[in-house]
Amino acid sequence: MASIGNLTLDAPFFQAGLAGYSDAAMRLVARRHGCPYCVTEAMLDVFLINGGKGLKEVELDPEDHPIAGQLMGSHPKEIAQAAKILVNLGYDVIDVNIACPVKKVRRRSRGGHLLCRPDDAVAVLEAVREAVPSEVPATVKLRRGTDDSAEAERDFHKIFQKVMELGYAAATVHPRSVEQKYLGPSRWEFLRELVKQYVPRRTVPAIPCGATDAGPIVPGGADAFQIFGSGDIFAVEDIFRMIAETGVAAVSVARGCIGNPWIFAQARALANGDREGAGRGPSIAQQRQVLLEHFELSCRLHGERKASMTMRKFGIKFSRHHPESEAVAKAFIAVHNSSQWRAVVDEFYGGAEMNVANQRLG
Ligand SMILES: Cc1cc2nc3c(=O)[nH]c(=O)nc-3n(C[C@H](O)[C@H](O)[C@H](O)COP(=O)(O)O)c2cc1C
Repeated sequence: MASIGNLTLDAPFFQAGLAGYSDAAMRLVARRHGCPYCVTEAMLDVFLINGGKGLKEVELDPEDHPIAGQLMGSHPKEIAQAAKILVNLGYDVIDVNIACPVKKVRRRSRGGHLLCRPDDAVAVLEAVREAVPSEVPATVKLRRGTDDSAEAERDFHKIFQKVMELGYAAATVHPRSVEQKYLGPSRWEFLRELVKQYVPRRTVPAIPCGATDAGPIVPGGADAFQIFGSGDIFAVEDIFRMIAETGVAAVSVARGCIGNPWIFAQARALANGDREGAGRGPSIAQQRQVLLEHFELSCRLHGERKASMTMRKFGIKFSRHHPESEAVAKAFIAVHNSSQWRAVVDEFYGGAEMNVANQRLG
């Protein structure tokens, strides 16, 4: 069982922070499909401090727990203040992002930039840990370094050791370098070495295996520092392969769950040894239901106009499950309002008769 401080996850996977995607609507859909824990997209500390209308969108639905609010910043005082705001808003965990490779973010000395400034990174981490009450776990998201140089590796370990000393509950490591962005594979061997070095009680099985065979991994127990892994998780098997090959306590699902909340239900099935359930893709009726539900949640959160724009990119991802994916994606891209969304769903995922049938079942 994975844990984050005093918080126990009943399954070893969770939804990653995904800027532009992992809003409350996406998170609620994921949870309804078995996701035990979610991370928000990275929020700028100054955005929270300045308050205003935007704060409405970071208020939490009672169903949206446990959740980590992820922060990005460069000034210890500001990020500490923002961390307190998130705690007051009811976030269960505060996660600090020192991973983001986006140029605009790094130019302002935030995100992945901090990986090559270990002293600044530590100052930020220290300020957050001090600002947050001890019962609220703090966690961190990192990449494996700025680039492939020996200096970058030294900086990573300097920061990582401090993460543990400061009392951080967990670290999610995406073993691509900042320079690498998303090009090339995520280096899982880095994760395996990290687990061996920092949490050696989690012994890694020699043979890559499925969920039910993940035998010799010994969890550290509540309050023990945990390493979570990220990178190249596109199908349910990848989740358990990463655990088996690296020994991470839990896996962060990112691009693999955009337009694919079913990956969480499949992962639950695989964790229970149900290989047939794990291999079952969503039926057209299930896709229809999620498309309508996700759109409605998005409207509630953002209003119809913004939701219609936001949902287009989700529509493209969802369309991959449909036999006519190209036509479906094209239709979703042209949507401007909820009746047009509904019309696309009715055209490709069954119309009025299916509604009646669903109502009878409900
Ligand atoms: C569009 C996009 C937005 C992302 N936004 C965030 C973010 O806000 N916070 C974060 O920690 N990681 C963010 N990430 C990184 C992912 O959480 C994850 O570490 C990365 O995609 C590697 O996992 P994958 O290869 O399985 O997708 C983002 C990734 C993508 C593709």
